[in-house]
Amino acid sequence: MNDQNAAFYRRIDLIRFQEFARLIGLDKGADIDCFYERIKNAKILLELGAGYGRVINGLLKKGFQGKIIALERSPELLAYLKMHIPNIVLLKEQDLKKFQINEKPEVVLWMWSGILEYSPLEQIETMQHIASQMQENGILIVEIPKQVRYVGQQMGNQIIEVNMEWGNLQAYLPTEKEMSNFCSLAGFSDLEILNYKTATHLERTLFIYKK
Ligand SMILES: C[S@@+](CC[C@H](N)C(=O)[O-])C[C@H]1O[C@@H](n2cnc3c(N)ncnc32)[C@H](O)[C@@H]1O
Repeated sequence: MNDQNAAFYRRIDLIRFQEFARLIGLDKGADIDCFYERIKNAKILLELGAGYGRVINGLLKKGFQGKIIALERSPELLAYLKMHIPNIVLLKEQDLKKFQINEKPEVVLWMWSGILEYSPLEQIETMQHIASQMQENGILIVEIPKQVRYVGQQMGNQIIEVNMEWGNLQAYLPTEKEMSNFCSLAGFSDLEILNYKTATHLERTLFIYKK
């Protein structure tokens, strides 16, 4: 599923991408406000699927001092990140399903529904892979919606479709139970679940896995 979604982000209209963040209420970093205290002293932080840099800009605005490494598959978004956010390390066009990293991160962020763009099997395998690339005692924060609104349509079950002029995205919304099961399946030792509301009052959840 995830490979079929790649073209969507290669052709995405950046203005619309940023507009989606505003509609969902994430543009000012409502998600970052919830977890920043927990990660503020990290020395190495990796963001998976960094998009146009919404999260990285939010962290920098809060004064985050650690090293930021951004992984992004779309060459167009990578070029945008390179031009607009100096002083971060970019992992060039790596696929987050199989990335390799020498400097093991203490904190890994997988935000704004990133995990939804993978099939159920890909979600388990990718969670296992991410765990294998982290420091011992590191934390992984995965962010998902409770329900889909503004961007995408829920098709009755857990399948979501996003249909735009430039392409389509297929997604799968995991249940809280499935997200909880990833803890032991991927070899994490602990999980904290934080529900929060965005600036436009949407209910979303942060899953904080500890290795
Ligand atoms: C919903 S956006 C989230 C952007 C950003 N994390 C944020 O919260 O604003 C998902 C991002 O993940 C990237 N992505 C999706 N699958 C990927 C993969 N297999 N490897 C690397 N990046 C991927 C997409 O290109 C896109 O930029």
